[in-house]
Amino acid sequence: MIKTGDSSSRNTELDLSARIAGVTFKNPIVMASGTFGFGKEYAKFYDVNELGGISGKGLTLQPKAGNQGTRVYETASGMLNSVGLENPGVAAFLDKECAYWETLDTVRIVNLGGNTFEDYVAGAELIQKDADTRGRKAVDMIELNISCPNVKEGGIAFGIRTCDARELVRAVRQATSLPLSVKLSPNAEDIADMALMCQEEGADAVSLINTISGMKIDVRRRRSVFNNLYAGLSGPAIKPIALRMVHQVAQRVEIPVIGMGGISSATDIIEFIMAGAAVIQVGTYNFMNMRAGQDLLRDLRQFMLEENIASLDEIRGII
Ligand SMILES: Cc1cc2nc3c(=O)[nH]c(=O)nc-3n(C[C@H](O)[C@H](O)[C@H](O)COP(=O)(O)O)c2cc1C
Repeated sequence: MIKTGDSSSRNTELDLSARIAGVTFKNPIVMASGTFGFGKEYAKFYDVNELGGISGKGLTLQPKAGNQGTRVYETASGMLNSVGLENPGVAAFLDKECAYWETLDTVRIVNLGGNTFEDYVAGAELIQKDADTRGRKAVDMIELNISCPNVKEGGIAFGIRTCDARELVRAVRQATSLPLSVKLSPNAEDIADMALMCQEEGADAVSLINTISGMKIDVRRRRSVFNNLYAGLSGPAIKPIALRMVHQVAQRVEIPVIGMGGISSATDIIEFIMAGAAVIQVGTYNFMNMRAGQDLLRDLRQFMLEENIASLDEIRGII
């Protein structure tokens, strides 16, 4: 039962926590990869330790400069991005950013990308080695982003066909004992099948969805706005699709589901939890509201009080 009294004492009675592979999230609000840097920038606006977790910018084995030309474009209820995974590389991240991550009291997730099978595995090995040396004080989990292009096979993303992704998930699982979530692409041939494969190969969780492939044409210049022709659509425009996919995957697998896609309100979070998500991630909304995490947490608590929900477990996966 929730006690009555001032709102701060009532808040302490609410249970927003979730556990994934032995890692406790104090609340379900995790910042999505590529939309929150490594957290430091947003720490100017609010205490990021209030968050359930942070998924850092996607890292590749080698540093990447990212794409030339237009990188982001606003669309109806969303945005297209073609950032091209600009990042400092795994080693530079471990050397420089991890000192800050060691100071944080929130779940810290390394998002790992790669161009080739070998890059992914070598990246995972480096992260594992660093975690062993540090005693796991800076990284709590790896999120394996399988939506990056496989250059060796002509630019096809690992995340489209289950058979292409299986060996990669298996190899990365062997390379690390850290909790592992695999981030799935909505462009996959069958996302529930892909999630099941991840479970079979020993992943501790699946994260979904990444952006949906989209396009914008500059009609005056008679060319695509983006040098790479297509770009990734995110934000409220994709929420109904993301929610449906989270529900389908949650019905199919036993491992926890980390749900995301267009979340920008407390009721959006509740929808994903009801669809079966253990925790959720917030991406594009960070660009609209620099205090997104803080505001969503306050509104989520308020919603729970109004609806007499003492623990999110009461409503998780009820649909
Ligand atoms: C600018 C931008 C950069 C992103 N970079 C990454 C990335 O590096 N790795 C990754 O797994 N997802 C990346 N994403 C995808 C998001 O983490 C998230 O899966 C997607 O945007 C859907 O959530 P949203 O609608 O709340 O933004 C990026 C998204 C945006 C908008």
